[in-house]
Amino acid sequence: MDSGTAYGRPTPSYDAMLVELGPATPAGEMLRRYWHPVAVAAEVTSRPRNVRALGEDLVLFRDGEGRPGLLYPRCCHRGTTLYYGKVESSGIRCCYHGFLFDVQGRCLDMPCEPPEKNQSERYREGFRQPWYPVQEYRGLLFAYLGPPERKPVLPRYDVFEDVPADEEVVADGNKIGIEGDTSPCNWVQTHENVMDPFHVFVLHSSNSGNQFVPLMGVLPEVSWEHTPLGVKSYQDRRLPDGKVFHRVTEIMMPTLRIVANPFVKRYGRTESVAWTLPVDDTTTKIFTLYRTPRGERVSRVRFNGKRWAELTEEEHQRMPNDYEAQVGQGPITLLINNAGQFRAFGLIGAVDPLAWWNEVEVNLRGPFLYAHAVLPSMLTRRRGRIINVASNARHAGHTHDVRLCRE
Ligand code: FES
Ligand SMILES: [Fe+2]
Repeated sequence: MDSGTAYGRPTPSYDAMLVELGPATPAGEMLRRYWHPVAVAAEVTSRPRNVRALGEDLVLFRDGEGRPGLLYPRCCHRGTTLYYGKVESSGIRCCYHGFLFDVQGRCLDMPCEPPEKNQSERYREGFRQPWYPVQEYRGLLFAYLGPPERKPVLPRYDVFEDVPADEEVVADGNKIGIEGDTSPCNWVQTHENVMDPFHVFVLHSSNSGNQFVPLMGVLPEVSWEHTPLGVKSYQDRRLPDGKVFHRVTEIMMPTLRIVANPFVKRYGRTESVAWTLPVDDTTTKIFTLYRTPRGERVSRVRFNGKRWAELTEEEHQRMPNDYEAQVGQGPITLLINNAGQFRAFGLIGAVDPLAWWNEVEVNLRGPFLYAHAVLPSMLTRRRGRIINVASNARHAGHTHDVRLCRE
């Protein structure tokens, strides 16, 4: 008799508490205690654009004074979307009856109302368009979608402070490393990839051909460490010349991904920080800030001179990348509820997969459980401080030994 057939298999399920992020969900509330990048600042103009973040549809624009505004799109008058609004110096004017809202949703003008009402600030106060705070950091616009009384200071990062004159910081909203605008999958399966150094050996090397540089294709010895803000992964690759290539990647709560450049252009601390934006339960986007010599940009070419989006379907099959692997896990992968599925990670063999998932899970789930208590204090305690980034690549024996973890 055949065994192991697909017939009668368990119904797939996932841990809703971990992966669902709409308003009033535990994970959604946790995520709403942080600033999230929602756009590249230079792309935000007087032309309104739709933005979706944490399952909420919003409209983003820049008023005539250059102030960014992020408003709930459905006009508080009769509910049409402000996406069709006209931006003026002091705000956005609804296309339907002309209510004018500033970047904090205050109604400044209502031309169809009788003059005595329109001129009454008190009357206009009754028409407040819901809004969210927006701040810019190094070319990215960050939004805070949480309770106003819990709003943390927008963090800054040491790698982007005191940038030398011959370098610049580039803001990117197009998923470096994964490519494409958004990925149709839950943010956790995109994010936990940062703590999965083994896939580099297979997905980016032995299976697809070397997608980075040959030394990245060596199977690493790996360990993990909790940090005050997340998890670090240490990867040591023993090289044919007897030296050791030491690489550190890290995630910081809740959505930071800090990865040393896989093309190993230089040794030293990473020059980039990225954020996983949970767009909604089944859509994810990545924003990146990276430091580079002035005028240089990261290469988007993936294969034979083609960008990822230009590959044929067959090329995607022959040379899958992070996008294919993560979207291939389904809109929301099964994660921890289906032990049979989860054990698939064990094929790697070098480490107990439960151990490393535990590292991730403890950091993700723990804050979920304490979303209203423990977690917000982490950033509050760091109020006004610059967050140090430790991710780096180091070649033992290299004279420039970089151990820049300054926690
Ligand atoms: S619906 Fe916006 S002003 Fe009437
Ligand atoms: Fe990858």
